[in-house]
Amino acid sequence: MNALEESQVDRTTIDEIISRHRGKPGELLTVMEEIQEASEFKYLDKLSMDYLSSQTKVPLSQIYSVATFYSFFNLKPQGKHSIIVCRGTACHTKGSKTLLDDLSVLQGCKEALDSGETSFTTEDRLITVKTVACFGQCALAPVVAVDGIIYSNVTSEQIKKLLQHLQEDKKDENIRLY
Ligand code: FES
Repeated sequence: MNALEESQVDRTTIDEIISRHRGKPGELLTVMEEIQEASEFKYLDKLSMDYLSSQTKVPLSQIYSVATFYSFFNLKPQGKHSIIVCRGTACHTKGSKTLLDDLSVLQGCKEALDSGETSFTTEDRLITVKTVACFGQCALAPVVAVDGIIYSNVTSEQIKKLLQHLQEDKKDENIRLY
């Protein structure tokens, strides 16, 4: 069995997360968020969700609905760094397509996004590129999030510099766009 086919979070950790949030408002969302955070590749794998369902009696279909509805949940292994580009109308008008073109130097990225995928991870799991419909910050377009930090008025030069930095120094834990 491939490592990624195994449960990414051990059962004791899942049990502990469930019991810490039992009966609290927004319980399922919080539990799923913490399970994802506990996973090395920051995603909800099938076995962890099966186990969550069996322990909470929440139907698996409901867990999947939540995981697919909220964009911060991942159903695939994520890269060490994430770059999320907004594809909403305001950002598109201000050049987000060019930013995505800049990211297409990552092998396979363009093909994945052109085929309708909203997420692509490099083979070495260094970078995940994602798109979102809107960050809700349209006045600051184009908007890009890098490792959870939102950046406004992003330029092609900044994206190119970021990629160069990431590829030259793969060990860098803290990356910033500017
Ligand atoms: S369209 Fe990009 S933030 Fe709204």
